[in-house]
Amino acid sequence: MLTKLERIQKDIEALSAFNDTKGEGLTRFSLTEADRGARDYLKSEMKKIGATVYEDAAGNLFGRLQGTDSKAPMIMIGSHFDSVKNGGNFDGPAGVVMGLEILRVLKENDIALKNTVECVALIEEEGGRFGGGLYGSRAMKGLVTAEALEASLDSAGISMAKALNAFGFDAARIGEAKRNPETIKAFIELHIEQGPVLENEKLDVGIVGKIVGIRQIKVRVYGRPDHAGTTPMPMRKDALVSAAEVIASVPGFALAVGDGTVATVGTLSVLPGAANIVPSEVTFTVDIRSKNAQSVEAVHKAIEEKLKALEAVRGIAFDVKTLLSVEPTQLSETIISSLKASADELGISYKDMPSGAGHDAMIMASMVDTGLIFVPSKDGRSHCKEEWTDYDALQKGIEVICHTVIEMGR
Ligand code: GLV
Ligand code: MN
Ligand code: MN
Repeated sequence: MLTKLERIQKDIEALSAFNDTKGEGLTRFSLTEADRGARDYLKSEMKKIGATVYEDAAGNLFGRLQGTDSKAPMIMIGSHFDSVKNGGNFDGPAGVVMGLEILRVLKENDIALKNTVECVALIEEEGGRFGGGLYGSRAMKGLVTAEALEASLDSAGISMAKALNAFGFDAARIGEAKRNPETIKAFIELHIEQGPVLENEKLDVGIVGKIVGIRQIKVRVYGRPDHAGTTPMPMRKDALVSAAEVIASVPGFALAVGDGTVATVGTLSVLPGAANIVPSEVTFTVDIRSKNAQSVEAVHKAIEEKLKALEAVRGIAFDVKTLLSVEPTQLSETIISSLKASADELGISYKDMPSGAGHDAMIMASMVDTGLIFVPSKDGRSHCKEEWTDYDALQKGIEVICHTVIEMGR
């Protein structure tokens, strides 16, 4: 029989095998064969535990252990199982493995809780394939429409609606993924820290209070395609030159509002994309994050003002589309206290922390009491192949949540 630590390691390693970029980090986009493989592994583990397995209309996967009081709302635990492009093995899966392992502990110790406990594996948190992100939790809040599924395209032009249908789901029924908040007592997520604080301070876990607000926008700048050799400089409408000016201003906009606000241009595409044609269309994304909603708004506004100024002097045109907008979120004080009490009881060290990364917990927190625990990331690295958390460190985070779930459900 495997120890708990060995089970955790086995789960992480098994999930890591479902990867479309072996040797170059882990890429597991939603509704792909890698998703299918990871999903099948999780289903089979959930079944081995004796959990009831089901998927919702959004493609989220659940394993349920029924509570003794059928009227009591459930405790939901887990995280996402999709990844960024060329990411690591822990961002997302660490929290799913937490859910799985807690189901195992409950089952093997015959711990009968009043509340049903559901382990959830959410999809498309990263927005790696279809953009935006936090999709699984947003669908549970009822924020995803069938029209939005049609409009969300991957890089090959396949809509999320089409991908869901091809995978065996029914995009037209997306509304059924919406949860009644009254049926959920709490949502608790575990995630790797993705930063250096816990490791530097030699602490076991971080207990998250506030998650930053996030807005992601897609900017399109339209110029005019012309011959790169024959078109005099004053006659050009070069979309890339204008876009570059905006992009170069973005760090300054974030610094100017202060508050630790950050802004990142993470994608850029140039059309038609030939050495001898003046660029006619440039698309880039800006990801803006701050603990204050006004600071996010101010950076967004500054970008639009800059674009307007360029439109006036350079004759380019532009449009700006919001892909994701989530307010800064405070997590539940009740759950924070329970997690701290559990950590104290178990002799696990912790500190209060904010989160600069987005998590499904921030959507769930607008519906139900929500908590989030961080475990240390080696060298603070994440969203890269070097991403690593020691298995015994992960186990400590799992133990804190397990203790809290048992206390809550007694
Ligand atoms: C997810 O990793 C995010 O913070 O965007
Ligand atoms: Mn991530
Ligand atoms: Mn994540």
